[in-house]
Formats: sequence, C-alpha cells, structure tokens
Amino acid sequence: MNVRALAAQVLGQVLGKGRSLTTALPPSLKRAAPEDHGLLQELCYGACRWHPRLQVLLSALLTRPLDPREQAIRALLLIGLYQLWHLRIPEHAAVAETVTAAHQLHKPWAAGLTNAVLRAALRRQRELTAMLENDPEADTAHPHWLLQRLQADWPDDWPAIVAANNAHPPFTLRVNSRHFDREAYRRHLAIEGYAAEQITEAPTALTLNTAVEPAMLPGFAQGWVSIQDAAAQLAGPLLDVSPGLRVLDACAAPGGKTGHLLECAPHLDLLALDRDATRLQQVADNLRRLGLRAYLVAGDARRPADWWDGIPYDRILLDAPCSATGVIRRHPDIKLLRRDSDIAVLASQQQALLTRLWPLLRPGGRLLYATCSVLQQENEQVVANFLTAQPDADEQPIIASWGRSRSHGRQILPGERSMDGFYYAVLIKREVATGEVTCLPAS
Ligand SMILES: C[S@@+](CC[C@H](N)C(=O)[O-])C[C@H]1O[C@@H](n2cnc3c(N)ncnc32)[C@H](O)[C@@H]1O
Repeated sequence: MNVRALAAQVLGQVLGKGRSLTTALPPSLKRAAPEDHGLLQELCYGACRWHPRLQVLLSALLTRPLDPREQAIRALLLIGLYQLWHLRIPEHAAVAETVTAAHQLHKPWAAGLTNAVLRAALRRQRELTAMLENDPEADTAHPHWLLQRLQADWPDDWPAIVAANNAHPPFTLRVNSRHFDREAYRRHLAIEGYAAEQITEAPTALTLNTAVEPAMLPGFAQGWVSIQDAAAQLAGPLLDVSPGLRVLDACAAPGGKTGHLLECAPHLDLLALDRDATRLQQVADNLRRLGLRAYLVAGDARRPADWWDGIPYDRILLDAPCSATGVIRRHPDIKLLRRDSDIAVLASQQQALLTRLWPLLRPGGRLLYATCSVLQQENEQVVANFLTAQPDADEQPIIASWGRSRSHGRQILPGERSMDGFYYAVLIKREVATGEVTCLPAS
C-alpha cells in the first residue's frame, strides 16, 4: 500500500471513529517502509493541522456531498489537497500517487473523483485562495468554536496563539540532573552532531533544531534524558519537592512529570495514580528506563477511599485532564476531536478532582494545579471557584520570568519562549494555628 493510502486509513479513523493520531498512526507506521515514515507522519499531522481549511476547500470542490460512510476517501481527498496547498511535492506526483491510493484502498470508483477534485483545485487555485482568506475558520485553520473562545479569552493574543498552533513544535529534551547538568549533556549531543539550545526558563531543558528518534539520543536507554516540553518541566520546581517528602502525582500517566519529580529530589515517597491502567504501564516503563521508583496505582483520583491509606501528603500534583488547547501544535487532531461542549464537562471534572484531593493534603502542604489548556474556564475559573469554596486554601502567587500572571495562577501561551501552552496555580493549605482559641459568646 502506498504512503497516501496508509495516511488516508489513519486520517479516516480520526474522522470517522474519533481516534487520536497517537493511537491510530503507530500500526500504519509499522506497515510503512522506513523511508516513508517521515512522509506518512507529515501527511497525517499536516492534514489535521490544516483540516478546518482543507474541509472548506473540499466542500467548494465537491459537486455533491460524499457518502458519510466513505471516511477513508474523504481523508484521501483532504490528504491530496494538503499536498497541493501546503507541501512542496511536485503537483503531478501528488495527484498521480493520490489517485493510485484510491485503487489501493479498493475504491476504484473514487479514483476518477480524486483526479477531478485535485485537478480542479490546481485549476481554480487563485479563486479558491481568495475564498479561503475570507472565511475565518479556513483562514486561521481553527474550528469556529475554538476561535471564538480564543478571541474571547485572549483578545490581544489570539492571532499569535493561532499562528503557534499551526506551527511545527520544537523537539525539547529534559536532561536528567541526576546524571548531568545540561551543558555536559549538550557536549554529548554535539559529539553526535546535534546542535541544541538552552531554554532559560527551565534549567533542564534543551531544544534541538530537528526531531530525533529517541533511541538515537546519547544515553536515552540509560535514562540520561527524556523528551518533554520546557513548559512541562516547570512543574517540578513549582511543586518544591525535597528528599523524603510524601507526594501524590494524582493524574500521572504517561509519567513525564513523575520522572521529573523523582529526578528533582531522590527518595521521594511518591504515589503515581492514574485511572487508566494501560497508560499507567507507560509510567512504569518510563521509570524503569530512568532507574527510578514510585508506587503505581490504577484508580480514580475522585475516589480516594479506594486507594488512599489515610496518611496526608506534603505535596500533590494535579496535572488535570483538559482540552489540551495549549498543545495543539503537537496534537493537531484536537482540532477535529474536541467539541465546544467538552469544555464545561472538563471544567467540572477538574473542579471535582481539586475538591476531592484537597482533604489529602496536610496543613502547610502544597498542591500544584496544572493544565495544558489556554482556556480560562479550565484554568483561573476552576481555581477561583475552588478558593471561594475552600476556606483553608490560599493561593501562592507564582513570580516568574515566564508566562503571564492571571487573576489566579500563571499562563504560558503556546510558542512563548518556544514553550507549549501551560497553566499553573500553587495552592497552600493553611496551617491550623497551635493554641488557637475559639471564643464562645458568654451565656
Ligand atoms: C494531562 S494527562 C497527565 C500527564 C502526566 N502528568 C505527565 O506529565 O505525563 C491527564 C491524565 O489524567 C488521567 N485521569 C483523568 N481522569 C482521572 C481521574 N479521575 N483519576 C485519575 N486519573 C485521571 C488520564 O488518564 C491522563 O493520563
């Protein structure tokens, strides 16, 4: 099967079955020749990144709507248009290979359609370009609902957010400070021919100018380094861990931050919890590679009675499930998979997680609330509601060179200092003053 046909199968699963690229792509990568891996990924990720635009284009080019059951053919047409509009593949090769893919998908009837749509796209390029520029969804390549939210939450910054979401993400490493400081690891990279830049905000972050197969990185198998965006690397220092503390990582999988916390402070008594047992296995794999240990438990953080031993935690990291609107550049399928109505559901889950986990924190303890969302409803609004309802909770403002202060917490927008979009808020549980006396009115 050629690479366009494989890409159409992957994208067809995203469109038709709501599967993510993270789950749909790997089986097709196994079937593709190694030299096709780069193009297969580019076609799948690129067609998602530009989907809102490509979809408008396709609708303008189809003379009658496609049968909704033909998602692989819809996907193939979008992939064909992606090549013509966004890639520097010679036009005749892009058209011919995409038409061949229709045969390989056992849809010979679609070969003529594919040929006609792609040739019309080339012929009408100027007129179609003008049409796309006048359609905000197509012009920004963002679904209408998301564009509206970005414009409402970030009236000055939304154009920069949109541009960052449509860009390719940087390839950022976290150097394991138990083995090296980052300058020493940078020298190892240089010996292998990789140039790397420091990101000042995160002391362990190095960004490479090109993506690298992890196994090719010096010492990857021995845990010298991990792949993690610099914004995610801020969680470790913000939680302020030190050896021996009792820590709960409440939504831990796949374990990026779990590993970092243990690198920051050895001998943590750390429980890594996640309700998804399959994803929890990735935490185990990550920790094994890093040579680190934690207790791993599959459970629902909203039901501590199922897994908590009753001993309070000094630190809690709540890296909450969210819309991931800060990491669209890494996961452009979010543009296809998320719906406006998801945001309220996520916000109420986030609220419930915060409320249920708070009693597990000891007085004087610290909870770090984190999301990779840029939407206020999941970030400062969740924290504001929580602080209103929780009399023993104080917010500790985050003073930092990165991001921007919000009414509660601190927000990094995607692309700022090369980082992903991330939100952090630090919450401290008030100590009960010893010897405090409650004065009762005299009877
Ligand atoms: C943003 S991801 C966490 C990323 C992780 N902290 C890291 O740095 O690699 C959110 C995780 O929360 C988990 N999750 C969602 N709802 C949960 C719940 N009620 N209890 C425990 N885990 C939950 C999901 O399975 C997912 O793995």
